[in-house]
Amino acid sequence: MSALDKLQKLGVVIVGHVDHGKSTLIGRLLHDTGSFMDGKLEELKAVCERRNVPFEWSFLLDAFQAERDQAVTIDTTQIWFKTQKRNCVIIDAPGHREFLKNMISGAAFADAAILVVDAKEGVKEQTKRHAYLLHLLGLQQILVVINKMDLVDYSEARFREVSAEITAYLAGINVKPHSIIPIAARNGENIAARADSMPWHKGRILLETLDTFEPVAAPVERPLRFPVQDVYRWDETRIIAGRIESGVIRKGDVLTFSPSNRQATVVSVEKWNSPSEILSAQAGDSIGITLDQPIFVARGDVASHEQKAPVLSNVFRANVFWLGKKPLKVGNHYKIKLATYEATVLVQSIDRVINTDDLSRSEKDTVEINEMAEVTFRSREVLALDSYQDSLKMGRVVIVENHDVVGGGIIGSEGLIDQRQLLQKPRENIHAVDHMLTNVARTARNGHKGAVIWLTGLSGSGKSTLAMRVEHALFNRGMQTYVLDGDNVRKGLCADLGFSPEERTENIRRIGHVAALMGDAGLISITAFISPYRADRRKAREAAGDLFHEIYVKADLGTCEKRDPKGLYKKARKGEIKDFTGISSPYEEPENADLIVDTSAQGIDACVEMIVDYILQRTQAGQGNVTSIAARK
Ligand code: ADX
Repeated sequence: MSALDKLQKLGVVIVGHVDHGKSTLIGRLLHDTGSFMDGKLEELKAVCERRNVPFEWSFLLDAFQAERDQAVTIDTTQIWFKTQKRNCVIIDAPGHREFLKNMISGAAFADAAILVVDAKEGVKEQTKRHAYLLHLLGLQQILVVINKMDLVDYSEARFREVSAEITAYLAGINVKPHSIIPIAARNGENIAARADSMPWHKGRILLETLDTFEPVAAPVERPLRFPVQDVYRWDETRIIAGRIESGVIRKGDVLTFSPSNRQATVVSVEKWNSPSEILSAQAGDSIGITLDQPIFVARGDVASHEQKAPVLSNVFRANVFWLGKKPLKVGNHYKIKLATYEATVLVQSIDRVINTDDLSRSEKDTVEINEMAEVTFRSREVLALDSYQDSLKMGRVVIVENHDVVGGGIIGSEGLIDQRQLLQKPRENIHAVDHMLTNVARTARNGHKGAVIWLTGLSGSGKSTLAMRVEHALFNRGMQTYVLDGDNVRKGLCADLGFSPEERTENIRRIGHVAALMGDAGLISITAFISPYRADRRKAREAAGDLFHEIYVKADLGTCEKRDPKGLYKKARKGEIKDFTGISSPYEEPENADLIVDTSAQGIDACVEMIVDYILQRTQAGQGNVTSIAARK
């Protein structure tokens, strides 16, 4: 595909009630635009004849999907076809649920939509639900096709009737369709070729209409949003990588990172395979940047310009489309994803539940599958938020439960109050005091630098055993070291905490700071905590800065359960321990661990050696300096 083709691509989503002819339409679109491999149609027709079943156009799509399923299993199917003007891609998914998930999560981004309505059956429940979803997602280019006109004798009167019905519903949700076209997908009528059977239709036919739509332009003019996907280190260089969702980044720009609210200046903009120096990049570009200062930046942070930064708030309201089999309830906790950021939120209130069928509103404490609702969420930490009105890409929230997308929504601007000012205010009456001892002096005395060696992994993965063995090995080499262990710490410092997501977060917050202080004091502090949430480990890294090293002690659940050193898995399986990690509470694997040791594949001695080697290399005296905690912002 040429660069031009790629630029011009139009993402189209086809929705409608089951059996109203979505697949037939797709099959027909592919055929009528000559997008199928030669001979495929004849082959399918021959098979149908042999089996004595009438040929259906949807078989083409099935055949296409079957081929794809054999190759790779992916959630989104992208089906390409060419119109006279450009390439189009139909965004589809093998199942109805997957399709909806892709739509609400933004995994598939559509520029335009075709809503299919059966001429005979008229507007049905799913027609309305899908139309509502298109409205929620703010799709502007919506084309309605009244399909199966052949089954109503190409009656203009019936076409007008169904058109009026769908227009009335769409008006109720403030949607004005671009146009409404009568078609008979099975016969290819009014798709690529005008049908003689409906001379009363004077307007454009389907493909002509698609060619009047435009791909939604990448919002270059909007304020900059650069969600960080990853931070890479090469020697002394740190590259912050991601995709610019809106606006422009230029070399020399001062960027504000949210939610941390730290600032630094862009020293360079990097693009893969770019032969010459780049001075700026814009919405849609995947880039890396380097900064003039070593401020803490991690996946999930959003870079912007100071004057037009996202709102920082720990409360927000969203219009949610719920797909979960278990209802959404007030008081429940869920994991959410906001661009690349992940957080745990509490459902504070369900403000309204909307019945998409008759658009009636009700007040309830739960939202059932397929319902829409206005929901207020609260998180512990402040989040960088944009309303959907301000940003189609950033203003979405995806709700996850047990690794499954259970809902999604768009963030409303109502009630979104910026807390950035509050954060900027220095803590009253608190003044950091500088130590007289520098860490250079401590390093010289100890013969090594301080560090936080953060072991994370399932219960039974071997964290405590490894931590104690590593501590012993380092001690024998004359190094200053101490292990903070989950079970031990929970007897004292964290004796007040249980295992709910919030209590675990607090547990890790405390340990993160204690370990950072120990590291600052020059010790090699080794921690052995499950620390199941990425966001919590990220905070611990933030507390310790450059001293922090994340080590993933990897062992699959089966292995840990077989080991079951404390008999806890057995109890958890019997339901005697609730919120047990791996069984009834999630474990989020590190995405970017500094070191992985696999205790189900390697012996304990080998794992100890790997960790010790890693520590010795990273803590050698004389290697780059680190900033002390008091001096850090
Ligand atoms: S963490 O999730 O907050 O990091 P932590 O590492 O402190 O957990 O404590 C884990 C230890 O507590 C486990 O090794 C296990 O012995 C014990 N434990 C008791 N209840 C639970 C539970 N529900 N989930 C996980 N571990 C538990």
